Amino acid sequence: MLDGFHILTLTHRDAALETLAHAIVPGENTVATLENLKASMGWEELLYLATCNRVTYVFYTQEPSAADLAEQTLRLIRPELSEEIVQETASRMRLLHGNDAVTHLLEVAASMDSLVVGEREIIRQLRQAYDQSRDWQLTGDHLRLLMAFTIETAKEIYTHTGIGRKALSVVALAFGEMQKKQLQPQARLLLVGAGETNALFAKFLEKAGYRNVTVFNRTYEKALNLANAHQWRALSLDELAFYSEGFDALIVCTGATSAIITPELYQQLLAGETGKKVVVDLSIPHNVARETTQVFPMDYIEIEGLKETASQNLAYREQEREKAAGLIQERIYAFRDRWHERQIERALAHIPEEVKAVKDRAIHEVYGKEFAQLDPQAQDLVLRMLGYMEKKCVAIPIKAAKEVALRGKNQAKRVSLSA
Ligand SMILES: NC(=O)c1ccc[n+]([C@@H]2O[C@H](COP(=O)([O-])OP(=O)(O)OC[C@H]3O[C@@H](n4cnc5c(N)ncnc54)[C@H](OP(=O)(O)O)[C@@H]3O)[C@@H](O)[C@H]2O)c1
Repeated sequence: MLDGFHILTLTHRDAALETLAHAIVPGENTVATLENLKASMGWEELLYLATCNRVTYVFYTQEPSAADLAEQTLRLIRPELSEEIVQETASRMRLLHGNDAVTHLLEVAASMDSLVVGEREIIRQLRQAYDQSRDWQLTGDHLRLLMAFTIETAKEIYTHTGIGRKALSVVALAFGEMQKKQLQPQARLLLVGAGETNALFAKFLEKAGYRNVTVFNRTYEKALNLANAHQWRALSLDELAFYSEGFDALIVCTGATSAIITPELYQQLLAGETGKKVVVDLSIPHNVARETTQVFPMDYIEIEGLKETASQNLAYREQEREKAAGLIQERIYAFRDRWHERQIERALAHIPEEVKAVKDRAIHEVYGKEFAQLDPQAQDLVLRMLGYMEKKCVAIPIKAAKEVALRGKNQAKRVSLSA
């Protein structure tokens, strides 16, 4: 029933990045190239998706696919490629049909096929690719239906499984560890460095409600920008050596290649306090000197220590992938039903127009003379009766078709349950 859906794809699973690049439509003439591909192949609809770890052509056609479809596609989109490269790239591409194609797209959207399992970014990329292909008028009703269903299913999978739940990024993991130390929202936080990593860390801090944060950076303007974005305080890195207000947590992440937080500086930052502090160091190499971590009592969070949690979280996501696969198998039946119903709707779409035309012909042509001789009340009654008949006549075939579809659906369910 889903025979018209197909996918031709090349992913990180089957090819190195440089091979992947051969299947990408060149940027200069993307629309014309895709239009040409669609027309030459006789595809009714086409959706093109290119991300850093996959190139995917989703297409709809009831015609059988040629055995060398991958080669033909590559020759059309990249005529400059040598035959050797075409053959090598095509041999790594996968061509999927019907159920397998729909299943694959659902798996891609649920990030089960991603380099990092559970990375939600793919949903945004898929949506964007669809919007783009639709705006280029490459897609139609079949892919519209498939895409809506795909996004809905992916969301369901993220909600009902833990596939994207446990953190994998260094920043998220470090923040998670810091949160285990149960700092109060008014805790005094020192953020050293205002680069990309700390900017990301800052977002987690803001979301968790930390208000008392001082940002230090070598370039003062960058400290100011980051601090202003969260209504915190900014100071230049030079002022760290004179800072005397004490702190509860120190978060350090800069590109400095030698330690910034020496034992002497740390002693100064303690401002006479002796309690255990939380220190986060995400820099490579470490910005907190080893002696500092050895001499002072602290909960020290650094990249090496996060690896263990990262691999446990990855294992958890992998395990959740199986649950997601089960959900997809169930959802495929729902898509078949939805697609079938839509085909019925489309096949019957002309009926209301035709019934209305019959009614109009009766009034104006077949019984035109007799109708004109009736008095206004009689004309009104005839029009109301015909209007009633029109509505009922339109509903009859739609109801009958839905009953047939329902019988088919129940029969298919019985077969699948007894299998
Ligand atoms: N393990 C991981 O997954 C991971 C991920 C991300 C980052 N990191 C590490 O985190 C550190 C920062 O990365 P980033 O992406 O945030 O870099 P970034 O965006 O380039 O920012 C670098 C930051 O470090 C400061 N900086 C550079 N050299 C310095 C020096 N000699 N002394 C004092 N400050 C200096 C810069 O200050 P200015 O504004 O004055 O230039 C800026 O605030 C690097 O060590 C990186 O390897 C690790």
